[in-house]
Amino acid sequence: MSFRILGTGSAAPKFTLTNDQMAEIVETSDEWIRQRTGIGSRRICKDENLLDLSVRAAEEALASAGVRPEELDLIICTTLRGELITPNHACLVQERIGASCPAFDINVACTGLLYALDIADCYFARGKTKKILIVAAEEMSSIVDWTDRSTCVLFGDGTGAVVLGEGDGLRAVTVHAEGNREVLYIPRGEGKLFDGTVVGEPCCVKMDGGEVYKFAVNAMTTGVQKVCEEAGISPSELDFVVPHQANLRIIKAAMSRLHLPMERAFVNIESYGNTSSASLYIALDELVRSGKLERGMNVALTAFGGGLTSGAALFKW
Ligand code: UT7
Repeated sequence: MSFRILGTGSAAPKFTLTNDQMAEIVETSDEWIRQRTGIGSRRICKDENLLDLSVRAAEEALASAGVRPEELDLIICTTLRGELITPNHACLVQERIGASCPAFDINVACTGLLYALDIADCYFARGKTKKILIVAAEEMSSIVDWTDRSTCVLFGDGTGAVVLGEGDGLRAVTVHAEGNREVLYIPRGEGKLFDGTVVGEPCCVKMDGGEVYKFAVNAMTTGVQKVCEEAGISPSELDFVVPHQANLRIIKAAMSRLHLPMERAFVNIESYGNTSSASLYIALDELVRSGKLERGMNVALTAFGGGLTSGAALFKW
């Protein structure tokens, strides 16, 4: 026995930064951003903090799962950078929701949810775990270079959560890494040595978009093919693919390689941009709440990100 998804939740900041507003910050246009990425606007933490949003997403997921915080056996948080270096973000969420289980963070960039599901699968296999909360917390607006138009227009802030319980929903999960320091990285920030010398680089996203693009299309496609093969189904039997929302063109290219129509992809990039690991949770939560998912449907999740990492999972809903 492994697990099934009992509930989902998400919370994004209220403030919306449109492409036209972005064009007042860097030399860009609504037309360029929409055509190259499919993004229309993104949410930015202005009046809310990341922890409050994370707690909202977690509480929403717990409520929809009908699970009380005291019942949780584990909390995993996926984040590039939580509120603090320590305590980890999962412990901060644990304190706020009133849970008493172990809690830790993982940083697998945008692929976080898939790695967290893979870890959860191992916990459930031990037989000691009955309920797991996975939370995503991403505040990309605090780690983009707001003078670099090739990256700052792509990202947004958001949080999401899923609650897992024992069951047979998970059919297959796969995770992958191809260590690469150059293509997509974020320095940890500047610090001072004992003699006052400044070391390190500012903490902001550096990316070779074209290289990530090539990796992404291939990784998303092979990930979905692999989980379908493991579960003994053909990709044509997928009812929904929930892809990482990084670029509409990447999603379209992956769907085309899988010979699947775009209607089977869940896409919400237009209003959020790329929220790193939170992107899959927000998309899944919106799909669940749309009422389009029916019992027995085959749903694939697929993502790629810094590392370079990628992963996919297949659920029988
Ligand atoms: O979660 C993982 C995170 N990363 C990704 O998913 C990134 C994957 N890659 C991509 O999504 C695309 O490669 C981008 C959207 C980043 C870029 O799209 P592209 O079609 O590969 O454009 P490009 O980098 O080849 O740039 C084309 C042109 C360049 O001008 P020149 O050299 O042709 O004159 C850029 O300077 O577009 C220019 N450009 C822009 N123009 C207006 C780059 N950014 C902008 C911008 N507005 N924001």
